[in-house]
Amino acid sequence: MTAKGYALITGASSGIGVDLARELARAGHPLVLVARRGDRMQALAEEIQRDTGHDVLVLARDLSAPNAAAEVHAAITERQLALDVLVNNAGYGMQGRFLDMDFAAVEAMIRVNAITLSHLTQLCARDMAARGRGYVLNVASAAAFLPSPYVSAYAATKSYVLGFSEALRFELQGSGVSVTTLYPGITRTEFNQVAGARTPAIMDLSILSAAQVAQIGVRAMFRRRRAVVPGVINKVNAFFSGVLPRGWVTWMAGGLLARANAAPKELPPPAR
Ligand SMILES: NC(=O)c1ccc[n+]([C@@H]2O[C@H](COP(=O)([O-])OP(=O)(O)OC[C@H]3O[C@@H](n4cnc5c(N)ncnc54)[C@H](OP(=O)(O)O)[C@@H]3O)[C@@H](O)[C@H]2O)c1
Repeated sequence: MTAKGYALITGASSGIGVDLARELARAGHPLVLVARRGDRMQALAEEIQRDTGHDVLVLARDLSAPNAAAEVHAAITERQLALDVLVNNAGYGMQGRFLDMDFAAVEAMIRVNAITLSHLTQLCARDMAARGRGYVLNVASAAAFLPSPYVSAYAATKSYVLGFSEALRFELQGSGVSVTTLYPGITRTEFNQVAGARTPAIMDLSILSAAQVAQIGVRAMFRRRRAVVPGVINKVNAFFSGVLPRGWVTWMAGGLLARANAAPKELPPPAR
């Protein structure tokens, strides 16, 4: 039996990324973990090595840095590690009025969520296509399906991940490399703390654990599915976001997010 290639997971220091790493190790892959907090990834690496015996390489990197993807790719190629799996999971949100945000911080978020994700996909998928096999899993969000006021730039980065990943999947047909996009709804992680956000109370019903989301994502990726939305309520939301008039869904999302985060009380009427 051929030994399994490495699985690279970004954002593997907390939340969904930690459970994605555990899932992929259980599936038999040695790992490359990437995020900024090296101490946390080191602890996870030790746990995984103890439980599975697989090799785990920790790369503490800031993925908002302009050359981050090239540096991560160079670290893998220098060590001659063949990748079977790339999971672009690192990402975060910023909650508030866009006009009040510090643009340098917005730019850093766009780099992590969209630019580094694209560059790392290009560099790693090239290698995979040359070897004729591989899996890419890109983590978007349920926010990708609709304009979301007060998390406007974050949601737009996730809409980018949707368009980019699903189109690239088509380009890679016949290469042996598949691209799957994961669209989590609200998931119990450090996400809200980082974004400074609160979620609408009504959405509490749909919350899943990071372990559930990771398991669903990895299963869909190995089945080479185009897309997966974890959880029944999130699937229903995704359906309505796609079929209702865009002005309505924006108005509803804006209203819910404004109330949850005590943003402006005066909301504009729904656009037609
Ligand atoms: N939780 C939710 O409700 C939810 C819903 C939809 C989509 N998502 C998506 O799921 C993915 C994982 O988020 P999560 O919920 O697991 O949140 P989380 O617990 O906050 O984890 C985010 C991960 O991204 C990494 N990261 C952030 N900025 C980085 C940077 N500049 N350089 C390198 N790594 C960076 C963090 O590592 P360091 O801080 O150590 O760098 C951390 O490992 C994200 O793409 C998020 O947008 C989450």
